[in-house]
Amino acid sequence: MTVSSTHVSRGLSALTRDRALLREEGCGSSMPIAVDICRLSKFFAVRRSIRNTLLHPRRSDFVHVLRDLSLDVRKGELFGLLGPNGAGKTTLFKILSTLIVPDAGTASICGADLIRDSAQVRSFLTPVIADERSLSWRVTAWENLHLYGSLQGLCGGMLRGRIGEVLDIVGLQSTGAKLVGQFSSGMKQRLLIARALLHRPRVLLLDEPTRSLDPISAREFRAFLRSEIIERQGCTVLLATHDPEEALEFCDRIAILDRGRLIRVGSPQSLASEFRGTRYRVWTTTPEHSAFGELVHQERIESIRHVSRAGDLTSLDMNVLVDECNLADLVSFLVTRGVRLSRFERIGVGLADVIERAISVSRGAGDA
Ligand SMILES: Nc1ncnc2c1ncn2[C@@H]1O[C@H](COP(=O)(O)OP(=O)(O)OP(=O)(O)O)[C@@H](O)[C@H]1O
Ligand SMILES: [Mg+2]
Repeated sequence: MTVSSTHVSRGLSALTRDRALLREEGCGSSMPIAVDICRLSKFFAVRRSIRNTLLHPRRSDFVHVLRDLSLDVRKGELFGLLGPNGAGKTTLFKILSTLIVPDAGTASICGADLIRDSAQVRSFLTPVIADERSLSWRVTAWENLHLYGSLQGLCGGMLRGRIGEVLDIVGLQSTGAKLVGQFSSGMKQRLLIARALLHRPRVLLLDEPTRSLDPISAREFRAFLRSEIIERQGCTVLLATHDPEEALEFCDRIAILDRGRLIRVGSPQSLASEFRGTRYRVWTTTPEHSAFGELVHQERIESIRHVSRAGDLTSLDMNVLVDECNLADLVSFLVTRGVRLSRFERIGVGLADVIERAISVSRGAGDA
């Protein structure tokens, strides 16, 4: 895209009750707002070719990375951000962390304005970038925290006491003299969280925290986040993830971003019921038959996707738009047109499909 440059600690039970309320109401409307995002936009300058620069020296090219994004996250909420690569999740986190400034719009963290009260914002909110390299590997967990806390202006007995507390929270209190370089990825993730907790933030931003974890460690890490960080510490968590099942099982609400635009917000359950659709898998020896295309053309099925091939048989997934009681007609149409069917079965649809469908509906509606 080309634009001109001028465009340029409460009790555990109370918290558990609040979280139940959040889940019930979908948006937790009775809870105070922790993160209030209002019409945020961000452009990045695009590198231009020498020829382009010489031809149009006064022009600048920009990519519109966030478009008019408005969102609120309630206190104590676990809020998931989902979307394809380049959707703008990390950019949003960088803006909320005051690492970069937005080109338009505002946001506030626990009432502190992102631009006017940026120092207060930084004391309320901490980003946890899942990058183990930001830890010092040749020293212990305790020494890592001491170094980081000192750089943050903490010192003396207060710092030492807090290090003990956060190591306890993340379950690393017994690592003693073990060097961080000898930690597992899950332990390093916990240490990153401990570091973020040192100065008691109210909001944590987690950018793909389980990316490098095996499925069992990832599950443990999620359980730890829920019980310790959200329920015991009372933090509000924004979590960017590519793991749809993590979002479905874990988040109170999720937002789906696509090309910088917010396309849906809601509880995983409500989005799932809105976009899940009905999907069937057929096994056929004639996957290229024109009858499939005709069904799409007749709007009886929405899309077809080749899934796998086993010998002569190819499996195709179809999003079916007709009422399920008319399925027999659909099968009969395929058979009479000469499609050789071996199996026809209903299949489960995951949240990945829900996200894909939400994006395709949004793009189809001309949101892009
Ligand atoms: N400093 C920058 N300069 C120019 N473009 C940038 C810069 N940082 C990010 N972008 C672009 O902004 C868009 C959004 O990037 P961002 O990292 O926010 O996406 P994301 O949703 O976090 O993606 P992923 O899922 O891959 O982490 C991308 O097109 C990216 O190329
Ligand atoms: Mg990212």
